[in-house]
Amino acid sequence: MSIFQFPSDFRWGAATAAYQIEGAYAEDGRGLSIWGTFSHTPGKVKNGDNGDVACDSYHRYKEDIAYMKELGITTYRFSVSWPRIYPQGRGEVNLAGLDFYHRFVDELLKNGIEPFCTLYHWDLPQALQDEGGWNNRDTAIAFKQYAETMFKEFSGKIKKWITLNEPWCSSFLSNYLGVHAPGYRDLQLAVNVAHNLLRAHGEAVRSYREHGYDGEIGIAPNITWAYPYTSSEQDKEVCQRAIEWTWDWFLDPIYFGRYPERLLKVFEKGGAKPDVQPGDMETIRQPVDFIGGNYYTASVRRYAPGNNLFDDEELNMGYDRTDIGWPLDSVGLYDSLRYTHQKYGNVPIYITENGACINDEPVDGKVNDIRRIRYLRQHIISMHRAISDGVPVKGYMEWSLLDNFEWAEGYGMRFGLIHVDYRTLKRTPKESFYWYQKLAKNNFLVT
Ligand code: NOJ
Repeated sequence: MSIFQFPSDFRWGAATAAYQIEGAYAEDGRGLSIWGTFSHTPGKVKNGDNGDVACDSYHRYKEDIAYMKELGITTYRFSVSWPRIYPQGRGEVNLAGLDFYHRFVDELLKNGIEPFCTLYHWDLPQALQDEGGWNNRDTAIAFKQYAETMFKEFSGKIKKWITLNEPWCSSFLSNYLGVHAPGYRDLQLAVNVAHNLLRAHGEAVRSYREHGYDGEIGIAPNITWAYPYTSSEQDKEVCQRAIEWTWDWFLDPIYFGRYPERLLKVFEKGGAKPDVQPGDMETIRQPVDFIGGNYYTASVRRYAPGNNLFDDEELNMGYDRTDIGWPLDSVGLYDSLRYTHQKYGNVPIYITENGACINDEPVDGKVNDIRRIRYLRQHIISMHRAISDGVPVKGYMEWSLLDNFEWAEGYGMRFGLIHVDYRTLKRTPKESFYWYQKLAKNNFLVT
């Protein structure tokens, strides 16, 4: 028997994002977002799904919070919909939008759940996209205005802030690989977007510090660990590139005030480079209070010249996969955490997302999602291993509280601890919900 005991101040939580759960897309003055536009464009999202209704959490938030309470979590990571606060992206604030988040945050606090707020989880106001979106340097300034409004309005209530969720997705996946909104395929555009996202982050952090708010602020990139197929230098090199693309590309500018050399070379080969204006790197390079990390899977790669911009190939190792097709590799979480600690120092880390897509449906009112439980167990032990090795991981936020709108995959891919029937919007806690409830209560795992 093995016992894995967590530190007494460890935070167990769950995560969601506004566009994926709220619905109520045109209610109380909300503006449109790029995800509304994208999902209503035929062929962009599976089955033509969109977030118009989603889980209807805008109306059912009290029910959702009652489930959080039952689950026993002490932290809830959610995102604010920018177009609810500024329907046009900037300018006049929408008081009804602020009011909704006040009611919501008050309900969390009343139930003893700490709000962990993400400012940008991909739903850029469409009005800003019409002016070039993140390719336009002014979007970073609009973000600063939105962030400042939120900091001021929720000062004393929200003490943990994440500026950007998975900036690799909102830059490269959305503008180079064309998979997410706004759906372009242009490397220079993606590099510009990444740079302006980082500027937006820096502007918000600087303003937060200047106002001396009581709380912590950080960022949550995604890490996809990569293992070299052989021990050759070339295989190692392509893995390092893959890791740096989603992780170091965003953290190096924040920590060291520069982009990673090896990727600058890769992008140069693709005819792209960051457009760094005087003062930009000073804006971006500012201490954060924590690093948030979203971890789901790892890859095995080998050198494959000419195969793509990165000269690599991801191999199908025959590993088990979750229902979205991502290989199961919990050791990658341990390696990612160790890498982050070694490279960026003794900064607190939160696992801001980790979870599995398992599409089990209710049978006689029960969802027996044993594969999700297995996934969570393995990853949580891997995180424990890193903590035991001295990595200061302070909390874990399971993705996701509820099944929800899985972006370009639509509603078919289910990540929730709670099942959602999208016809009736009925919630049904899965077996994993009760498993996680026990863990949150005990603060240890036994295997
Ligand atoms: C990454 C994103 O932050 C979240 O929105 C998404 O649903 C999950 N990971 C699963 O893909």
